[in-house]
Amino acid sequence: MATVLLIGGTGLLGGAIAEELAQRGHAVRALVRSGRHAAKLSALGASLEAGDLRDARAVKRALRDAPVVITTAQGDPLKPKSPLREIDGAATQRLIDMARAAGVPRFVFVSALRADVGAAFVPQLAYKFAAEQVLQASGIPYTIVRPSSFQETFDDGFAPFKRFIETAGIGMTMGSGRGAHSFVAVRDVARTVALSLEHSEALNQIVPVGGPEDLNYRQAYTRIAAITGRRVTIVPAPRFGLKLGGLLAKPVLPELGGFFSFFAFFDRFGYTCVTPDWLVDALGERRSFDDAVRAFYGVGANSSV
Ligand SMILES: NC(=O)c1ccc[n+]([C@@H]2O[C@H](COP(=O)([O-])OP(=O)(O)OC[C@H]3O[C@@H](n4cnc5c(N)ncnc54)[C@H](OP(=O)(O)O)[C@@H]3O)[C@@H](O)[C@H]2O)c1
Repeated sequence: MATVLLIGGTGLLGGAIAEELAQRGHAVRALVRSGRHAAKLSALGASLEAGDLRDARAVKRALRDAPVVITTAQGDPLKPKSPLREIDGAATQRLIDMARAAGVPRFVFVSALRADVGAAFVPQLAYKFAAEQVLQASGIPYTIVRPSSFQETFDDGFAPFKRFIETAGIGMTMGSGRGAHSFVAVRDVARTVALSLEHSEALNQIVPVGGPEDLNYRQAYTRIAAITGRRVTIVPAPRFGLKLGGLLAKPVLPELGGFFSFFAFFDRFGYTCVTPDWLVDALGERRSFDDAVRAFYGVGANSSV
């Protein structure tokens, strides 16, 4: 099996992809910019290549012997030194150019659902869509994976929603919270990425992936309340408040306002998808939203799922 160069392996999805690839017997080389979480990758048998995606020399080193490339890397609107503009934008596009020059046999790009429609409304989706187009024009055999929102949004970690529930009994919606999402388990997205290397249906395709059920934030909180037995009062953060917050934060966090535009986009267009039949069959059982909640809150028999 070909060696896989994984970029983003220290992140939530990248870590799950590394596990999935290791289980399937792939040799993994991970480009990591710090030791944070890299120990997990080493424990899985991955070899580590120190470097930043923005450093062309490091990328060239990592691309030696033209491995299959998978990238989940993204910037962080809360970290001005790691802007979306550079990571999701210029650096990802240069990675694709360098992969083409190196003769990479397959490139899997983790984009985001509705990157095409959302490009006009949400800066991060515009970067994703631009990178998709560069990849499609590159001639590299590709798969573009477009996940819906992760179920892990409701776990501890990158979003504060679980903390609001636990500390104040508040289910915060950003905007109306009426747009439906096909909330999907990170592990199911990781399996999708690995499966895309094995299934010809994924070759040169855009592959949307969602969970088995569509729910909006209000419905999600109602489920969380029912499963955990907690009282959850739904509190919508008004869109103008998000806009104002983004404007006030601009001098320190210039990308935050643009990131908030995600929520207006969700309200307006929803974030649901139809997962292709071949992938539904290949994935088998996808984790349900209810099982995800049980796992996040340690409730019931399936809490370790
Ligand atoms: N969250 C969702 O609901 C959702 C929905 C659809 C699509 N997606 C997409 O799914 C992908 C994975 O999401 P995630 O939550 O796993 O992301 P994440 O946890 O934020 O991970 C991002 C990864 O990118 C790496 N990275 C960032 N800048 C880098 C640089 N300059 N050089 C090398 N590596 C760099 C990070 O490394 P460090 O550890 O060094 O920071 C980290 O490993 C993202 O592209 C995201 O846009 C997410």
